[in-house]
Amino acid sequence: MIREKTFSAAHLEIDRTALAPLYRQVYERFRAAIEHGVLRPGDRVASARSLASELGVARGTIETAYTQLSGEGYFSPLGQAGTVVSPSLPVRRASRRGPQRTGAAAFLGQALAEPVPPPPLQLGIPALDAFPRKLWARLAARRARAMTAADMFYGDPSGHPALRAAIAAYLRVSRGVPCDPSQVFVTGGYRASLALISRTLLARDDRVWVEDPGYTPTHEVLRGAGQLPVPVPVDQEGMDVARGMRKAAKAKMAIVTPSHQAPLGVSMSLARRLQLLDWASAAKAWIVEDDYDGEYRYAGPPLPALKSLDGHDRVLYAGSFSKVLYPGLALGYVVAPDSLRDAFATAAATWSNGSPQITQAVVADFMREGHFSRHLKKMRLLYARRRAMLAAALRKSFGEDVRIDLQSGGMHLIARFDRRSESDEELARRAQLAGLNCQPLSRRGTKAFRGEGLLMGFTNVGSAVHAQQLATELRAALDRRP
Ligand SMILES: Cc1ncc(COP(=O)(O)O)c(C=O)c1O
Repeated sequence: MIREKTFSAAHLEIDRTALAPLYRQVYERFRAAIEHGVLRPGDRVASARSLASELGVARGTIETAYTQLSGEGYFSPLGQAGTVVSPSLPVRRASRRGPQRTGAAAFLGQALAEPVPPPPLQLGIPALDAFPRKLWARLAARRARAMTAADMFYGDPSGHPALRAAIAAYLRVSRGVPCDPSQVFVTGGYRASLALISRTLLARDDRVWVEDPGYTPTHEVLRGAGQLPVPVPVDQEGMDVARGMRKAAKAKMAIVTPSHQAPLGVSMSLARRLQLLDWASAAKAWIVEDDYDGEYRYAGPPLPALKSLDGHDRVLYAGSFSKVLYPGLALGYVVAPDSLRDAFATAAATWSNGSPQITQAVVADFMREGHFSRHLKKMRLLYARRRAMLAAALRKSFGEDVRIDLQSGGMHLIARFDRRSESDEELARRAQLAGLNCQPLSRRGTKAFRGEGLLMGFTNVGSAVHAQQLATELRAALDRRP
């Protein structure tokens, strides 16, 4: 289903005999569609030109309606990327039947149907312009041509053998994680990995430490599976393990992002890593290490994974290809402790058919033939440059009004506007109305978490000029009164 077509000229029902001007009718119909949830935040709307031609009215009529809808915050113009229903509007329950985008999908900005290019400053996506598409096309074509009958049958639900081997070899060398390919389970991404872990190791009402602030989809997957997330505060050294022990010493699991805490960006100190491992070993609890972007570190080499210190085999390592290749691949993996290998193989076979064979094989080739490590090396340099360009542009536009948190790694920065009286939610709302997808830091934590700021992805900032243009637009948006 293409959302743009589900609300088209046919739904606008323009009445040429009515007294209300045509632009007003178009405006009213769109407004009603948004208010009744037929059009939802982030949905793309037809271009003024194509809608005018479908309705047989002047383009200026539609443009006037669109300008009014944008001015009132219903639409967000995204320049060449078209116009969308403002992503910052609250999601309404649709009065028509149809799939809803809520929870983690809404949090991640996942497309409901037809994909649209991510808006500027979008968090968590790699540089889409720098992906080696030609090379990828060549590898994919080679695999597609060589496809045999065996490749068309069900694959191993634990993952394609070539990919499991390539991941194990990569983790051993680059992340200091010693593992055998049979411990690697390929999944549809981080949430699928967590669901697999939860099904294999947890029961209903088990308590699980999660970081506060943290990655909201983690909480949703756990709650969906009947577990009870226990938020544990994060400070400059990462998750505060002593607080976790005071809140729920008998928790069954802790989920952490030790390389680069999501969203604060701090690395977990060695002392905390050891404390966490000791707790898990004494409490017979598990640790999930979510290493979603540990490869991106700009000061010095990437830190070894927590898993590399795991003498008691309590850590499950979760990786994803979303940041290091691209999210549309929908591939992630779990490294299970040796003792859990069979339990994971059984769970994987019970719950899924595995991931697409050819796609896994292409990723395996990409890794085995050395393209992956070259790509990562290039991206580290590129992201360091793009991060510096965005930070410089923000400082130029906001001067003393901005405080920028540049952590040692990651794909986003945190800009703090301490001198402004508005909340970060209000600042984010204004930025989003101008088509800039900044996210408020405060929304990543519980009420006990006090941090405020705007999270901004810098990976797709193409040049210093582009960075300055974004910073200027942001300044104008934040200065605009509601
Ligand atoms: C903290 C964290 N974990 C994991 C992921 C990767 O998730 P996925 O594999 O679903 O793309 C992300 C992506 O944004 C993330 O921010």
